[in-house]
Amino acid sequence: MTEREQWKSGLGFVLAAAGSAVGLGNLWGFAYRASQGGGLAFLLLYVIVVLVVCLPVLVGEMILGRSTASSPFVAPIKLAGNNWKPLGFLFALASCGILSFYAVIMGWTVDTLFHSLFVGLPSDMREAGDFFGRISSGKSVFIGQIFSLGLTALVVSAGVRRGIERLTRWCMPLLFLLLLFLALWSATLPGAIEGYTSFLFKWDASQLLDKTTIRNAFTQAFFSLSLGIGIMVAYSSYLGKKNKLPKEAFQVASFDTAVGLLAGMITFPIVLSFGLKDVISESTVGALFIALPTGFANLGGIGRLLAALFFGLAFIAAITSSVSLLEVPVSSMMDTLSWNRRKSVWVSTLIVFLLGIPSALSLDFLGNMDAIFNVLLILGGFLIAILLGWVVPSRYDEDLSASDSNLRVRKYLVFMIRWISPTVIACGLIISIYDLFFNWVAS
Ligand code: PFF
Repeated sequence: MTEREQWKSGLGFVLAAAGSAVGLGNLWGFAYRASQGGGLAFLLLYVIVVLVVCLPVLVGEMILGRSTASSPFVAPIKLAGNNWKPLGFLFALASCGILSFYAVIMGWTVDTLFHSLFVGLPSDMREAGDFFGRISSGKSVFIGQIFSLGLTALVVSAGVRRGIERLTRWCMPLLFLLLLFLALWSATLPGAIEGYTSFLFKWDASQLLDKTTIRNAFTQAFFSLSLGIGIMVAYSSYLGKKNKLPKEAFQVASFDTAVGLLAGMITFPIVLSFGLKDVISESTVGALFIALPTGFANLGGIGRLLAALFFGLAFIAAITSSVSLLEVPVSSMMDTLSWNRRKSVWVSTLIVFLLGIPSALSLDFLGNMDAIFNVLLILGGFLIAILLGWVVPSRYDEDLSASDSNLRVRKYLVFMIRWISPTVIACGLIISIYDLFFNWVAS
């Protein structure tokens, strides 16, 4: 058996984990969910869910990976026996399912980038509708999907250090610079303040109890942190014992939230300044691909350049996430079937491509995949909390004390993973499932 790879440095791991967290979910999902009416209440619930519920689970996922040094499929079995095999299956299913439609959206991103640079962008809403129709159907959607999956596969097959770590080391600083630049530019637009206040900072206390706002906060938190799906298990299985996981988890969560906010500060001023509010509030998956190119196009040549920067940034964010999604089935196949990395990568990629065909062909199907798999992430998070809070409760503290983590932080996390995270996630899960079915029946 070949020796298990390790990250080159602690920073490499944090950047890779942050790269997984920061993705289309921040750029597209955050704006799209915040615009569904929740406003500041959504933001508040989201931050509470991240800090109170998700952080202990994030550390838990990391412990599961590091202490077993195994792939997401094998780690739960190693820790708690064969009864926990279904959790490994859930991880594999959810990561392949999410990557299947994520790659389709990545394809739209590449296509829009290509149009910004070489073809031109739609100048009004009617043209924008046609534009989105073209990029999201027919041959171009498959070209985009295959390109995105192919690139993801190439990076993952190069390995943890030479592929994933190298990619994120370059991409993450670049991503942050682009984001900052675009947020500053967006702040100079005439509708900037109105954009922030009407979407992000609009306060309506009744939204705190609104089922859809609650589901949005939970799904956004889990989706955005790449939680409940085994990604952090896979990444942490390549870690040494010295890393201080609570600190690293906190860095990842803060970075991810900051990027979500910054992304909202880019998109909402554009939407408001160019009178595109109606498109966004329709809140379909494609809204941003309709509204933003039109907004940028209003600025002429410079707008095309800015659009290229924005969609280039979105693609960079997406690929550092898609490699993490693919690493889950790949590392699981390497572990269970003893295949080499390259064979595991190409077999997983083929499976994901086939699973993604219905999403490439139908926007409704893609929207339903997004809704269903988001609920599965919350279920994954709940099971991780039960596993580490109740089934093998000693492992959490043992692992953290071995790396010398601060005693108070340790006590806080152990309490949270046992009592608070499972209870709150269970409530969030029930509300989310109820809201999902309610919306389906109503539509
Ligand atoms: N966290 C990434 C994003 O927000 O786009 C990608 C992602 C990874 C989404 C894992 C969902 C997931 F389960």
